Amino acid sequence: MQREKLIIFDTTLRDGEQCPGASLNIKEKLEIARQLALLKVDVIEAGFPVASPGDFESVKQIAEEIRGASIAGLSRALEKDIEATAKALEKAEKPRIHIFLSTSKVHRDHMVEKAKEEIIEMGVKAISFARKFCDDVEFSPMDATRTEKDFLVEVTREVIQAGATTVNIPDTVGYTIPEEFAQLISYLKQNVNNIDQAIISVHCHNDLGLAVSNSLAAVQAGARQVECTINGIGERAGNAAMEEIVMAVRTRRDFFSNVQTNIETRHIQPCSKLVSSLTGFFVQRNKAIVGKNAFAHESGIHQHGFLKRKDTFEIMDPADVGGEESELVMGKHSGRNALLHKVQEIGYSLSKEELDRVFDEFKLLADEKKEIFEDDIHTLIQKQKFSEDQQVTYKLSTLKCEFESGKEPQATVALISRDGKEHKTSSSGDGPVDAIYNAIDKITGLTCKLLDYQVMSKTKGQDAQGEVTVRVQNEKREVLGKGVGVNTIEASGYAYVNAINKLLLKSKSGPVEGNEVSGP
Ligand code: KIV
Ligand code: ZN
Repeated sequence: MQREKLIIFDTTLRDGEQCPGASLNIKEKLEIARQLALLKVDVIEAGFPVASPGDFESVKQIAEEIRGASIAGLSRALEKDIEATAKALEKAEKPRIHIFLSTSKVHRDHMVEKAKEEIIEMGVKAISFARKFCDDVEFSPMDATRTEKDFLVEVTREVIQAGATTVNIPDTVGYTIPEEFAQLISYLKQNVNNIDQAIISVHCHNDLGLAVSNSLAAVQAGARQVECTINGIGERAGNAAMEEIVMAVRTRRDFFSNVQTNIETRHIQPCSKLVSSLTGFFVQRNKAIVGKNAFAHESGIHQHGFLKRKDTFEIMDPADVGGEESELVMGKHSGRNALLHKVQEIGYSLSKEELDRVFDEFKLLADEKKEIFEDDIHTLIQKQKFSEDQQVTYKLSTLKCEFESGKEPQATVALISRDGKEHKTSSSGDGPVDAIYNAIDKITGLTCKLLDYQVMSKTKGQDAQGEVTVRVQNEKREVLGKGVGVNTIEASGYAYVNAINKLLLKSKSGPVEGNEVSGP
């Protein structure tokens, strides 16, 4: 039997990025979009163009560069939003305008303050207006799962009649239950007389931990597009995790016997690592498909069975999701060509200057560390690609830290400012990292609050590189800073200086990532 295509609509860059603390800059969004294109997702929702100039620009750049996937931009049911989205998508190979409008009673009464008839009128007008710019228009009745069923039927019918090519049924507050959601999709299929003229999509939030189950139940009931995010990031408890949906459909192809996705699953883990590293949202160890332990077998009984025959305890091959052990790739004597080859193999394209810088850093790392793994190369590339080299206000020059049990740690830090001057000072603190951060604050004059501090080892072994991620707040602004190195104390210093530079950059040019219109 011919399987129908299950459209994978990725909203990591819109709903995922919208959640507090996950904000990404344009360069980072573009890199994630490139990885999503490698994964062969069908639709990339790149942002909410009217929300801020930064959002508009990132949707525009993604639309200009990415080929293969459709690029969607989100809009309220307002002409000015639709015009902004259409403009941002002008150069897209396959543009899609995605319009949302609240339909549930609680939203109608307390958010949009509109009667049912007004909602229908607004939705229809918005769809007709969007169709002037684009043939591919999606409509989302927000909070659909708490909307009166018959009103949902009416709205769906009218927007399809007006030209919506996809109708997305969002479980905005993560309220529904799989069986109930499947029934809702069946109800729409039975009662919306023109439903065959549109694709039914679903968009589930994870407040009750059911986003993936609800999405899969809807697929069984006839939905043919699923909206999801890498690692399940998103508002509150997140969205349905793309990797889980894709691997459920693939692993249980016997059960999901009439659908298939186009996803190149071997890119799943690299994409998951990129999203986690750029957003600073770490993946829990035991997370399905992409967690560090997802394919680890600890128990003796499991190991015994697994060694005899893999499928005793393994339902997926880790290689299918790009999850092989990080390969030992290079050493001290590897040359520039070998590095270039590896960079291309793991899916990056670097300019000559970027490659030169990565190569220099690689040589330094190879002096510090005996074995260089594929994950080390990923880290070096990210460090180069996402460092705001021209825009830094401070560079960490030297760092000295004294620590002895029972004594207060002391740190001396020297930073070089943009004008080439060295600023040196010492400070104490509760721990060595605190002492370093206090010294940096003394130099910059900023009063910062450290909201979060995490260290992750990038590869195995005692000499593995540690990646330090800090979340720092100054007044109302919050930024993420990163530092990588074999010496985690030094990496902690780099991470903090990286965050300070972002804060200083933001205060000069106004909020780069802050939304002027808050997201849905
Ligand atoms: O959760 C939601 O309802 C949304 C819509 C904009 C689709 O994100
Ligand atoms: Zn959502």
